[in-house]
Amino acid sequence: MDVVRAQQRVDELRTVIAHHDRRYYELDAPEVSDADYDSLMRELRSLESEFPALVVATSPTQTVRGLPVFTSFAEVEHLQPMMSLDNVFDAEELQGWGARNAKLLGDGVPARFVCELKIDGLAMSLLYRDGVFVRAATRGDGRVGEDVTENVRTIPAIPKRIVPVVTDGALFGEVPSLLEVRGEVFMPTEAFASLNRRRAEAGEALFVNPRNSAAGSLRQKDPSVTAGRELSFLSYQLGAIEGGPSFGAHSETLAFLANCGFPVSPEIRSLDTLDEVSSFCTYWTEHRHVLPYDIDGVVVKIDDLSQRRELGNTSKAPRWATAFKFPPEERTTLLRAIEVSVGRTGRTTPFAVLEPVFVGGSTVAMATLHNQDQVRLKDVRPGDTVVVRKAGDVIPEVVGPVLSLRPDGLPEWEFPTTCPCPMESMLVRPEGESDTRCVEPRCPHQRWARLVHFGSRGAMDIEGFGEKTVSTFLDAGLLADFADIYALRDRLEDIRRIEGFGEVSIQNLLRAIEGSKSRPLGYLLIGLNIRHVGGTMGHVLAKSFRSLDALAASSVEEIAATEGVGGTIAASVAEWFGDQANQAMIERLRGTGLNFDGPPPPSVPQTLVGLSIVVTGSLDGFTRDGAEEAISARGGKAPGSVSKKTTAVVVGNDPGAGKVTKATELGVPVLDEAAFRMLLETGKLPA
Ligand code: IVH
Repeated sequence: MDVVRAQQRVDELRTVIAHHDRRYYELDAPEVSDADYDSLMRELRSLESEFPALVVATSPTQTVRGLPVFTSFAEVEHLQPMMSLDNVFDAEELQGWGARNAKLLGDGVPARFVCELKIDGLAMSLLYRDGVFVRAATRGDGRVGEDVTENVRTIPAIPKRIVPVVTDGALFGEVPSLLEVRGEVFMPTEAFASLNRRRAEAGEALFVNPRNSAAGSLRQKDPSVTAGRELSFLSYQLGAIEGGPSFGAHSETLAFLANCGFPVSPEIRSLDTLDEVSSFCTYWTEHRHVLPYDIDGVVVKIDDLSQRRELGNTSKAPRWATAFKFPPEERTTLLRAIEVSVGRTGRTTPFAVLEPVFVGGSTVAMATLHNQDQVRLKDVRPGDTVVVRKAGDVIPEVVGPVLSLRPDGLPEWEFPTTCPCPMESMLVRPEGESDTRCVEPRCPHQRWARLVHFGSRGAMDIEGFGEKTVSTFLDAGLLADFADIYALRDRLEDIRRIEGFGEVSIQNLLRAIEGSKSRPLGYLLIGLNIRHVGGTMGHVLAKSFRSLDALAASSVEEIAATEGVGGTIAASVAEWFGDQANQAMIERLRGTGLNFDGPPPPSVPQTLVGLSIVVTGSLDGFTRDGAEEAISARGGKAPGSVSKKTTAVVVGNDPGAGKVTKATELGVPVLDEAAFRMLLETGKLPA
């Protein structure tokens, strides 16, 4: 390439990168995947190294991006600049980074490394004066960030006061007069998934990934909104420090932070050689999905602080650290079509039919689009190039279209007006609801989905009675409703005629069907496909009514009087049992010998219903499990951690410091063993 062409391409790349920076940092709405962005940056970097004359100070390769954009937050000048990290993309580049440093360090002691996970959230600087949390600031441009103290204060994982645990007298005993802790604020994948579920139901635009939703959550004007977003924090770096201990190695600073009560990832490892570092990176490339939060790489840091000083920094990143970036979990591909599926309740779900693409460890050819409003909000159209990502570990998701690649005149997608099944019945979207439904009870798609649900693990758990088997049996005319499943053993000859059904699988299936007859009542209620009776509700109803017949004979008011059962659910249950066809099917199910009875009544008085009691430390008269069992036997909950919802914390000998501190912080009563016994008996807290 000649220099003129190179200049053109460099300009082009800088414009495109600036555009994507704005989408990512300012609008929290990226158009391309991180991998595509990285490849633009790499191309620019390689052109600049081939033609050094083209390098300018404002090039994205020379600047830290992510400027503060929300002027409503006060600016904060960092005590020390918050730098970014250079990247390596494979083992070879990692070795190259190590070799450059080894050369700079000369023949002295070889470097040791600390490997950390690169959490995909937002860098945060936390400031403590005399042990008290006084300020939180985002990275901003590295020199000046935004003051987000009040929002960050709502994050439970962040200590509001430092209480050092003295493990090594001099080293960890003193609280520095000024301490700056750096780390990552992030949204756990579970919290992200449930936030987006709530937003989809409310018809609001979805966040594209946990990182962007953490960013959006921190930019709220009202801290109570941030508080509801379930953000968390992990610390990974000591910033400014005055007073207190001094350190020779990064690993010591992490131990110090942990002792001060800051969360430090248990996955961090100190390693001696780059080969070990390489294996660590490979391990996490393959196992990243076992973590409850997103990571996009591994951060490798030289442990020895004097070696770090020797190596120093480039203009924007330290030489002593690098980020090993994972291969992408987001890809772009063609959206071939949008189709609609019909669920067991008649609810329709639009889904994307994609040109198959390998992302996050598997090939994705389909992805849900949730509902009509989401398709409109995302503005995806058949024929678009779209970004596909794996959300919450396994579920593929269409992030949005790449507008710059949209063909001219591509029409918007229209939601179909009829069901995709052969009956082609009308689809309706009731006023004020986000779902469009097929209301034809004989709809073959609904029937199929209902039967599959009945046999699924969360319901009657009939092994071998999955999607394919149900389709085959429906096609062969062997099934119409749930009761027919239990009549299959009388249709042996018909089943044997079905191709691909061997004698062994037939016998196994019949045995699984027989076995399901004794499933506890809660699972049957879940399987019956009563609207609003899902996973928990089936068991709640089974526990309070104790038989199918008692539930069937109850009025809406009686059902609604049950703890945890609202009016909508009660009405839906009563309506289901009032339906004649359902009544007839129940009688046929009874005839097959299915279990209709719920669990026996509890043997102790239910004093703790609705209460949540956390036990910490060992008690004299109970084992830890014993104490928790005593709570749940009385109808209470015994979770492992303290929250706003905790009724009381029972403290025994050697309690966990965190739980007691948290209880005091939240104003949750703390009980001793005697008060706990009173509580078990009476359900009342001491006055
Ligand atoms: S160290 C000078 N450690 O990655 C050292 N950063 O691209 C700079 N990050 O802004 C940070 N996990 O938001 C460090 N264990 C870790 C990290 C980490 C995630 C983020 C952080 C930083 C960005 C750098």
